[in-house]
Amino acid sequence: MNSNSQVFLNGSFIKWNEATVHIMCHSFGRGSAIFEVLGFHTTKKGRFIFRLDDHISRLLETANLLDMELPLSREAIFDAVRKTVQKNKLKEGFIKIIGFFPQISFETTYPQKRLDLAIFILSPEKDMPDLAVSLKEGAAVCVSKWEKLSPRMVPTEAKVAANYLNGIMARNDAKDRGFDYAIMCDDEGFLAEGATESIFLIKGNTLITPALGTILNGITRRSILEAARETGIKTVEDKLPRNIIYEADEIFLSGTPKKILPVKRMEERVFEEIPGPITKKLSDIMNEVVSGEDDRFSKWLYPV
Ligand SMILES: Cc1ncc(COP(=O)(O)O)c(C=O)c1O
Repeated sequence: MNSNSQVFLNGSFIKWNEATVHIMCHSFGRGSAIFEVLGFHTTKKGRFIFRLDDHISRLLETANLLDMELPLSREAIFDAVRKTVQKNKLKEGFIKIIGFFPQISFETTYPQKRLDLAIFILSPEKDMPDLAVSLKEGAAVCVSKWEKLSPRMVPTEAKVAANYLNGIMARNDAKDRGFDYAIMCDDEGFLAEGATESIFLIKGNTLITPALGTILNGITRRSILEAARETGIKTVEDKLPRNIIYEADEIFLSGTPKKILPVKRMEERVFEEIPGPITKKLSDIMNEVVSGEDDRFSKWLYPV
């Protein structure tokens, strides 16, 4: 973690070490913190935040689903994110926006509806050192014994800390079994997603991914689908039986920090070519998009 970095907190900037809460606060005790993670990149034309508008929409949607209130308007959050990146000199990295209840509370219900808001900058090298290795080498994945939370239990589309126990259990289990990442099925046995990743399969020339419903509406997922269609790759979003994953020609995971993470091993099955041809094609497109070299998708880049 970069202890010199500046953190946005409710309209002011404070030092990293000052960005603390009491252990007895509601968001710590009950997992009521909501969040978004975004990426920013340096291109020839300067620094840009990837799909800032869509991430803020998803943050507002999370607050709405959970009947919470953000303390700032959409425009003010937009501005605060850009100012936080400006204040920190990193060329590329990640932004974590967190809405939380700092109030000391032993109650189950929220202490109030209005959240506090903090924005942090994270560095890929310092904060996610394993990521570069798995992006280069590919990831080993397994199907988890843990099912994805059902939308009948909680709003699974909400990015709220409490929902992530599900992914923590799945990922811990995968690690204990010697894999890097876990793939969860939903409570009807259909493929869903990873702990913090969307999943994609390739069969022949078709890109296949689980339909929305039980999974997070991933912003990288939707970008990859749009880029694939634009490039002439056939895409399918559907309810997918678990077995299809054992028959795929290529598999990859997607998410903001990883963009596209190729799978090198799916349980017993080792893929010889990493990344496979379609995974590589999409990965190259996504790298060009974030470097500002693909004009078709420049609408996704928001100047810092
Ligand atoms: C459960 C889950 N699925 C998928 C993703 C990937 O979403 P995005 O591409 O918007 O980062 C995330 C991201 O954190 C996630 O938490």
